[in-house]
Amino acid sequence: MKFIIPFGSLVPSRNSLKSLMASSVTQTLTLPQTQTFHSDPPQDDLDDLLCSDPQQEQQERQQLLLSSPDTSPSCFGSPSRCLTGESHFERAWAHWAKLGRPKLIVAPMVDNSELPFRMLCRKYGAEAAYTPMLHSRIFTENEKYRNQEFTTCKEDRPLFVQFCANDPDILLEAARKVEPFCDYVDINLGCPQRIARRGNYGAFLMDNLPLVKCLVQKLAHNLHVPVSCKIRVFPDLQVTINYARMLEDAGCSLLAVHGRTRDEKDGKKFRADWKAIKAVKNALRIPVLANGNIRHMDDVQSCLEETGADGVLSAETLLENPALFAGYQTAEWVVGSEGSNREGQLDQTDLVVEYLKFCESYPVPWRMIRSHVHKMLGDWFRMHPHVREDLNSQSILSFEFLYNMVERLRELGTKIPLYLKDTHEDRIAADGLGSSSV
Ligand SMILES: Cc1cc2nc3c(=O)[nH]c(=O)nc-3n(C[C@H](O)[C@H](O)[C@H](O)COP(=O)(O)O)c2cc1C
Repeated sequence: MKFIIPFGSLVPSRNSLKSLMASSVTQTLTLPQTQTFHSDPPQDDLDDLLCSDPQQEQQERQQLLLSSPDTSPSCFGSPSRCLTGESHFERAWAHWAKLGRPKLIVAPMVDNSELPFRMLCRKYGAEAAYTPMLHSRIFTENEKYRNQEFTTCKEDRPLFVQFCANDPDILLEAARKVEPFCDYVDINLGCPQRIARRGNYGAFLMDNLPLVKCLVQKLAHNLHVPVSCKIRVFPDLQVTINYARMLEDAGCSLLAVHGRTRDEKDGKKFRADWKAIKAVKNALRIPVLANGNIRHMDDVQSCLEETGADGVLSAETLLENPALFAGYQTAEWVVGSEGSNREGQLDQTDLVVEYLKFCESYPVPWRMIRSHVHKMLGDWFRMHPHVREDLNSQSILSFEFLYNMVERLRELGTKIPLYLKDTHEDRIAADGLGSSSV
């Protein structure tokens, strides 16, 4: 796996890493591996590498949940570091407080919440970030996958590293490789895609809660960093609450709740259920994060108030507007929003340029860069489709091409600003009431 860490170091231990990071000289270091190298499987086949269990009926799954899932085998392993009851909650909150209680968080996004994008979002107000989902088994087996899919740097904190898994031992092996570099190891229990069904992970583990419990316990009892989980809700509220309590009891120290069910895949079509998130928050004693329907800072405010959650995650909107958490919003949300707005001194071409600079410092696969450029410049391309076509026709990209393309868009004279909400002070100034005259 590739870490952008200081020159000349060996495998970084928890303590050595801190002191090493004091150095200003950095280089990319490939950690020594104990695993045998396997050649890279094509992306589409990655999930076939996991065995697939037959799916159970939804009815069965809900029954299982409502009757406590405590019958699962013990998955503790040793040494046991997991505390029970009060001390578990105290530790969970102490850790959260140590991280500064981040409220504005970049959600995990495959191929999209990679290091340069996280750094861009952090620059514009994000207080923590998730990595994209990493496939635990491939992560343990394949050095190339590790090097390509997980990079980080000292400024990239607080960091949640997310894995999908369905084997506790493999998950632990993968988690151990990243724990010196992150603040939580997160388990993806929410991916609803076909690929997750085939691989039997993500939201499809909602059909096998004893296994979910095992995964959480395995990490909670064996890692130094706390375990977090990201879930979707069940259609039945009580089932969701039981599920969340089970995760907490198993040792989960932080829970992110995406307020949509496994079948509600389309975020634009289905609104996230903040009431369900509120119910989970009220039922748990660990920090809870809310996910879904965060498009601008007014949504952040409303979501925190309505759910009582300790923070919010945003995904799709951040892709279009990575400056969301600094208060910027696209024109779409300005119309009809309360209060007045003004054009900010920033637009998406500026953000693309900043993103590209981060990519030059922290290399990532071109497919990720291409995806971000399309998402950030979507409105610009709609106005100038020939520029998009030109981009699409490039089978090999270069930074030079991309910087030139941004310049071309600017020269076409288009203005698509991002907006900022007027503050109280702005309004006073606009009314011609300087502080001296107030
Ligand atoms: C491009 C993309 C990739 C995603 N990848 C992941 C992932 O790796 N892990 C995960 O838990 N959720 C993933 N999600 C789901 C988001 O984290 C989030 O739960 C969902 O988009 C709802 O948030 P939103 O309404 O702010 O978009 C992804 C979403 C998008 C748009």
